Amino acid sequence: MKIPRERLQKVLARAGVAARRTCEELIRAGRVQVDGKVATVGMKVDPARAAIYGDGKRITFPKRHLSLLLYKPKGYVSTVNDPQGRPKVTDLVPFPGVRLFPVGRLDFHTSGLILLTNDGELAHLLTHPKYGIWKTYQALVKGRPAPAALEQLKRGVLLPEGKTAPARVRLLKQFGNQALLEISLREGKKRQVRKMCEFIGHPVMELKRTKLAFLALKGLRPGQYRLLTTEEVLRLKKLALSGAPRQD
Ligand code: URA
Repeated sequence: MKIPRERLQKVLARAGVAARRTCEELIRAGRVQVDGKVATVGMKVDPARAAIYGDGKRITFPKRHLSLLLYKPKGYVSTVNDPQGRPKVTDLVPFPGVRLFPVGRLDFHTSGLILLTNDGELAHLLTHPKYGIWKTYQALVKGRPAPAALEQLKRGVLLPEGKTAPARVRLLKQFGNQALLEISLREGKKRQVRKMCEFIGHPVMELKRTKLAFLALKGLRPGQYRLLTTEEVLRLKKLALSGAPRQD
């Protein structure tokens, strides 16, 4: 997927050069250059990468934020660097020149929804426990947890890093010697779901994150991604700041 490009006059107007009509006149008068060539009205540019000059002076732009939702396949690390050289989630999103970083972590063997962004504020609001954004997982566990064990998960269990906060837990189905649980958390301790399930004696065999607040994996297959819309980003930020108890 290409980086969205915009019409030059719109980009110039947003950068505060002048009103859009006036920008069009400046372009028509040959006073604007893009990447060393005289610009034309309506040409499309990527303001993050194009060298744009007006009357010989470089026009700079506030950094444009890019956020996307990736369906992480198993077998990828969600860090920007991996000393072991394993495949990285950033390898799946070709946006050269844009430094995207993962919002929070999913283990190497976990699949599912992860956001990538270059918007530090968004990442902070979605990952800091004080904003309490819900993250939902489907965990295929060994054995059939008794209702009391599920209650324990809901109330919180004592891990070496402290007691886990109240969670939402549902038994989705049981088959053979396995059960599929849906677990929603407002915090994100390292390997939290795996440790919680281990604690109640039902180790995780497969783990997938299915939701983050109101975002889901709908329409995506492992390895695929889509850009978040401006509205979605605003809604996520508002939600984090509102501390809303339900977010889906
Ligand atoms: N909890 C885990 O145990 N692993 C993940 O990847 C995410 C949440």
